[in-house]
Amino acid sequence: MDIDDKPFDEYIFVEKDQDRCIQLKLLKRNNKNIQIENEDANNFLQNLQKDWRRCRGVLFLDPFATEVEWATIEKIASYKALDTWILFPTSAIARMLPREREPDSISPKWVNRLNRIYGDESWRGLYSIDPQLSLFGGEQQQRQEGINGLISIYKNKLAQLFDDRFLNRSRTLKNSNNSALFEFLFCVGNPNGIGPAKRIAEYILKDL
Ligand SMILES: C[S@@+](CC[C@H](N)C(=O)[O-])C[C@H]1O[C@@H](n2cnc3c(N)ncnc32)[C@H](O)[C@@H]1O
Repeated sequence: MDIDDKPFDEYIFVEKDQDRCIQLKLLKRNNKNIQIENEDANNFLQNLQKDWRRCRGVLFLDPFATEVEWATIEKIASYKALDTWILFPTSAIARMLPREREPDSISPKWVNRLNRIYGDESWRGLYSIDPQLSLFGGEQQQRQEGINGLISIYKNKLAQLFDDRFLNRSRTLKNSNNSALFEFLFCVGNPNGIGPAKRIAEYILKDL
């Protein structure tokens, strides 16, 4: 917002929490067209009406955890106008997917949440029957070790949806204990701008 040389025409902040919206309103700058929307961001983005042939923008999805729905990502991809940064909530998802599980024992609430994030049940591919346990008659399933699997399933889905507009390179954001918190991902808006947009994104990712 402080860039006055070639600034954006408008800035839109979408925040569900009313008190935080009041705080955001204090950000108002002179001569800047700033809109604060007290709304669910999924709802807002899925119903965003613009003339997408003329409009371009940068979108930053900065959730606390698992709020961003796959249906929102699909809608963004269809606009072909928004260069989009996504913070994918690795640690929150890993907590919902414990290493060892009896088949189908993940709570329906979490299944629902995971399906909303991934858009389908593809996350179930992380589990496989533990051969040692099945030898003894147990059918316990084991999740792939680490966080790479749950990120790569999401990345593969983004690559399918955005095709060449998806930047495969990403950045893992970690806490002070060196544990992954979020994966920082980028997708290009307009197909005509793939080259420059990816170059800018790679430059930003390198510098984080
Ligand atoms: C990580 S914080 C964002 C911080 C902010 N981008 C910043 O740099 O200060 C996540 C914010 O998303 C808001 N939030 C959570 N779920 C939301 C939703 N479905 N729609 C809109 N805002 C939501 C929370 O109230 C919280 O303020």
